[in-house]
Amino acid sequence: MISLSRLRLTAFLATSLLCVGAPTFGQDRSLKDAAQGRFLIGVAINEKVFLGKNATEVGIVTSHFNSVSPENCLKWETVHPEPGRYDFSAADRYVAFGAEHRLFIIGHTLMWHYQTPDWVFKNPDGTPKNKAQLLEELRSHIQTVVGRYKGRIRGWDVVNEAIDDEGRLRTDKPWYRILGEEGVIEAFRAAHEADPAAELYYNEFSLWLPAKRPAVLQLVARVRAAGIPVAAVGLQEHYMMAGPSPEEVGETIDAFAREHLPVMITELDVSVLPRPENYAGADLAALQARKAELDPYPVALPETVERALAERYAALFAVYRNHASAIKRITFWGVSDADTWLNNWPIPGRHDYPLLFDRGDHAKPALPAILDALARP
Ligand code: XIL
Repeated sequence: MISLSRLRLTAFLATSLLCVGAPTFGQDRSLKDAAQGRFLIGVAINEKVFLGKNATEVGIVTSHFNSVSPENCLKWETVHPEPGRYDFSAADRYVAFGAEHRLFIIGHTLMWHYQTPDWVFKNPDGTPKNKAQLLEELRSHIQTVVGRYKGRIRGWDVVNEAIDDEGRLRTDKPWYRILGEEGVIEAFRAAHEADPAAELYYNEFSLWLPAKRPAVLQLVARVRAAGIPVAAVGLQEHYMMAGPSPEEVGETIDAFAREHLPVMITELDVSVLPRPENYAGADLAALQARKAELDPYPVALPETVERALAERYAALFAVYRNHASAIKRITFWGVSDADTWLNNWPIPGRHDYPLLFDRGDHAKPALPAILDALARP
């Protein structure tokens, strides 16, 4: 039973929200309103948000964003941890959260070489699956996962990161070594069959590298030629302070727009930390020895860097504003710096500051800088 005082409180809150607008965390404008009519503004969420464990972050998400992406809960290792066993407990809560708050719900991701268990590629006796067996595994996974959320998850990152920086299909990974390009086409086909109304995306990083773009364009063209609609290419955009330049970001969007392919900025963040050239496969002990250089802001971000980050975001959003007709959605990869994946990638245990809210969930100067950039005509 709802008590009268509870009802009065609810009515009071509803009226005050109508009068002053939803709380926007120190801002008088919300991101989604500032981007209204141009693109959706999304954010990747973890269980702190979709299980309601952090009320402030729930408020941030529902007041500033109109789309959500699942940071991890729909990846293969989470939803399908063992042969024949699915676990949708987290994903169901994620989708329920998005539906409750009327957000455009994204699914991420169906075919990727990370966060996919080894068993996927092997028979019970340990021998590698052949092409027919692996295609069957892929198709049945996609049919099951996409089918479960049919009509509720509105857009899917079907294939993630199939092309390397030189523009080659990643045949060093089992998906593509065993299936070749057909795997990509069949992944899209299965997703389309499971939910014909869902938007399907190809998602990739570093597409500002000119060598990588033609390969992605050709791959998407071949999926489309097979009669399967690809709604957009997802540009991950895990950026650095130094680059890519706003010009390179704009050129990337133009390159896809010229081929009648809208883009989505699917995983936006800007790392303020140095990224050593040789981090891949680097010896962790050697990196630890360079901790002061590689983790320069363990306590707080200096104001100069904070301001530079705000300017970097403003410059990026000036590009997005000027390319709005080609961009359908811009999604930040996380709510606050406390949980950004960049604290642990590419080097574990650092302190990065790439997002719009700080470790205490307070808005950073980057937020009003973006709002200002979006306010210009
Ligand atoms: C990251 C998550 O943010 C981390 O929590 C997880 O440990 C690893 O994956 N590209 C992608 C995302 O497509 O799925 C990745 O997300 C970040 C890079």
